[in-house]
Amino acid sequence: MYQTLLILFVALAITWATDYNALIEDQGIYVQCSEAPAGSLGPHDGFNLDNMEMNMEPEGIYVSGNMTVKLNFSLSDRISVSNSCPKQEELSLRTHQDLIPFQARFSVMHYERGTWQPTMFNLHSANFCEVMFDEDQYWFKYWFKHIRNREEVREKCLKVKDTVLVYNEFLMVLQLENVNTSNLQGRYKAVITLEAFDEHDVRRPTSFCVEIRGDLERFQRCYICVQDTTPLQTV
Ligand SMILES: *[C@@H]1O[C@H](CO)[C@@H](O)[C@H](O)[C@H]1NC(C)=O
Ligand SMILES: *[C@@H]1O[C@H](CO)[C@@H](O)[C@H](O)[C@H]1NC(C)=O
Ligand SMILES: *[C@@H]1O[C@H](CO)[C@@H](O)[C@H](O)[C@H]1NC(C)=O
Repeated sequence: MYQTLLILFVALAITWATDYNALIEDQGIYVQCSEAPAGSLGPHDGFNLDNMEMNMEPEGIYVSGNMTVKLNFSLSDRISVSNSCPKQEELSLRTHQDLIPFQARFSVMHYERGTWQPTMFNLHSANFCEVMFDEDQYWFKYWFKHIRNREEVREKCLKVKDTVLVYNEFLMVLQLENVNTSNLQGRYKAVITLEAFDEHDVRRPTSFCVEIRGDLERFQRCYICVQDTTPLQTV
């Protein structure tokens, strides 16, 4: 009597990857900068957020609605997005330096032994208006991509009072995936600053600064990949 036994050898590769979830501290998400430069406006002075919906759920933050610009700069101003630690250039994206009307910077700081320390996560745009709808830019991928009235916002670029930014609803997932650097767990803040420069490249006394504060929580995900399937027959 023959008994055929078919054994499948399945080689499983199990990979553990470390991912991080950001848990935001404040329901309003954007808060006043704790080390704001003199003359800087906070989240509610720079924009009217009354018609914005930002709901934190376990899977991320649902964003929809519209916000109105309260900043009043000149259309010819350059906007720079900047932060409190301008020396950090690792992730910095400088573009169109000769045109330069509005500068933007995004920088992540880590709370360590009682003080905020810079990290390698920084973005800097010397001319923010030129790049806000550039598909390769993080500004675009995480925020401006979801603006419905793109043409109007491209033209007025956060500089003209009463401009309404209308958002298509989107889910903002704050997650770092598959990070294999040292442990990133802990308390963080992201500081976003907008500065304007007039046609003579003189910085306007008024600027804009907001922070997002939260904790990075580590979680490990197990990825199982089937690598090979070998049928083996025994008699
Ligand atoms: C902005 O939101 C408010 C409240 O939802 C709505 O009434 C208004 O029509 C919106 N404005 C635009 C331009 O979509
Ligand atoms: C905007 O600023 C200009 C000067 O730069 C001023 O003349 C104008 O009144 C301001 N507009 C508003 C609505 O505050
Ligand atoms: C991530 O892991 C790869 C492969 O294990 C290694 O070559 C690389 O240096 C690591 N990167 C960092 C930033 O640790």
